[in-house]
Amino acid sequence: MTTSIDVLGDLPTTAAHAADLFIATTRRQPEGPVHVVLTGGSTGIAVLRAIGARSSEIDWSRLHVWWGDERFVPAADADRNDRQADEALLAHVPIDAANIHRVAAADGPLGDDPDAAAAAYADELARHAPPGESCPRFAVLMLGVGEEGHTASIFPQSPAATDPNVACAVRDCPKPPPTRVSLTFPTLSAANEVWLMTTGAGKAPAVAQAINGADPLDIPAAGPRGRVLTRWLLDEAAASALPARD
Ligand code: 6PG
Repeated sequence: MTTSIDVLGDLPTTAAHAADLFIATTRRQPEGPVHVVLTGGSTGIAVLRAIGARSSEIDWSRLHVWWGDERFVPAADADRNDRQADEALLAHVPIDAANIHRVAAADGPLGDDPDAAAAAYADELARHAPPGESCPRFAVLMLGVGEEGHTASIFPQSPAATDPNVACAVRDCPKPPPTRVSLTFPTLSAANEVWLMTTGAGKAPAVAQAINGADPLDIPAAGPRGRVLTRWLLDEAAASALPARD
């Protein structure tokens, strides 16, 4: 498994680079559906906007969209990662609504039960998985990174960090809103390519610890790795604690 560290000048150039890579990566997938996983957070949404600016370059009829985590709030709540993705990209492209795989909302048919929402998401992932596997072979799985090293909604020393299921409920999350649904480490590493995308000096210590092999229980961003490639997409500030690069 290969690791690539791409360092760009700032958030806009990092997002533009991620869009470039997204278009190229989705285009080179073998025939059939192309499964991708999106992330919330400021960097993740900026990347979706950058993809949206070039959306005509993507064959949306092939794309299936999932989320690495979702805030467990009512469907219309602006905090929902899927709502922010709709506004940044999905509402503006010709993707089949059935291929947008949303996590159940707190006011949805499953009720205010994040465990039920996590189980239902795992079932949906399984329905699109190759025989004998629990989820699709995601072409690209995007993740953000928190200042203390969280990724998706897996926080340091949290139950989610050791949850063996495909997806899990997260309660009392340090980053609001407090209740979420998250894919777990095994699922996050089911992707061919895992992209950890973050910007800003506040993320630099966690980025350096994750790249230098920290314990994923302490720095969850150290956990997810692609089957083929793990790509770090960073601005100079987020990369500033890494060893000097030639
Ligand atoms: C979420 C995200 C979360 C996010 C990081 C980074 O639902 O909040 O999935 O993992 O990506 O917290 O967020 P920022 O890029 O805004 O710092």
